[in-house]
Amino acid sequence: MTTSPLSQTPRSTLVRYLIEERRRFPEASGELNGLLLDVSVACKAIARIAAFGELDDSGPATMPPPSINVQGEEQKRLDVVTNELFVRMNEWNGHLAGMASEEMEAPQQIPRAYPRGKYLLLFDPLDGSSNIDCNLTIGSIFSVLRAPQSVIDSGRDVRDEDFLQPGAAQVAAGYALYGPTTMFVLTVGNGVAGFTLNPNLGEFVLTHADVKVPVDTQEFAINSSNARFWEAPVTRYVQECLAGRAGPRGKDFNMRWIASMVADAHRILMRGGVFLYPRDTKDPAKHGRLRLLYEANPIAFLMEQAGARASTGRQPLLGVVPTALHQRIGVVFGSRNEVERIERYHHEPAAHDSADPLFAERGLFRS
Ligand code: F6P
Ligand code: MN
Repeated sequence: MTTSPLSQTPRSTLVRYLIEERRRFPEASGELNGLLLDVSVACKAIARIAAFGELDDSGPATMPPPSINVQGEEQKRLDVVTNELFVRMNEWNGHLAGMASEEMEAPQQIPRAYPRGKYLLLFDPLDGSSNIDCNLTIGSIFSVLRAPQSVIDSGRDVRDEDFLQPGAAQVAAGYALYGPTTMFVLTVGNGVAGFTLNPNLGEFVLTHADVKVPVDTQEFAINSSNARFWEAPVTRYVQECLAGRAGPRGKDFNMRWIASMVADAHRILMRGGVFLYPRDTKDPAKHGRLRLLYEANPIAFLMEQAGARASTGRQPLLGVVPTALHQRIGVVFGSRNEVERIERYHHEPAAHDSADPLFAERGLFRS
């Protein structure tokens, strides 16, 4: 079924939503809106590239052999192409002091040919990239921070430490999802709004106003192939879910794992659930799998704005003070009562301590 372009006109668009949000702040300059619209254009361009799949011929005709990014992970061709798109779509508008991305070791400077602005943009241009080759849902995640005043005043190049702000300092955050439909889900600190791309209009149309996550759920998401590396509170939580109606929870649970965090987060925003990629003992050099600044924090901001909760397991994610640009962290988010339960398990003493004394509740790495 195709939808007539006109049949969508009574609905709000992303542009209208942003203009109406801005009216709540008469002193606002409109720069944030300009920035968010450019991000949304980058996402539309990525949606087209993703939709062409193997047929896509954007970017260089021949790619260099697969490279390893700053995370020690293989960079796919689309990781590189989409990163470039995000940079090019946002470097010229005068709203940014700098950018940082999963795919770039150092911050991206705004070229001297363009004016520099007051915001910092952080992004994961293509989350879930292991799903690219099999035509499963992927997405882009972004976070907007204010640049430190010293950067704005001096117009100097940005440094890693300029980005090391707690998630609570985010001005806006969101993601685009490239699934059966393309969606853009956003918070500017006044709830969460979800927009669906109307391909006829080329516009994001408001389809999910004021998204709210139910406080209870019977659905959890975790990569259980890591079970042997989990800490005791996580093992306890999952075992209790698996025990179902006969167990301590007294109800049966269902499980989902898309392996695109952005898609798992979207499902939770749509119908509730809980997602865990906890800190574990798999690689002692890494304190978790997901990256704090451009994966965990934007999703945490959206979750909290939708009435859900986001945590490291031990403390609210949005309160964590980052120590490195590409820092990894344990992540638990979703339906409030489940996340609070998991935090409780982490704070309960002794009986559920990890076998590994380094990670035990009173151990060296307890945060
Ligand atoms: O960017 C990290 C990521 O791709 C997430 O989107 C996803 O949730 C996770 O990695 C998948 O990890 P795993 O390979 O352990 O399932
Ligand atoms: Mn990612």
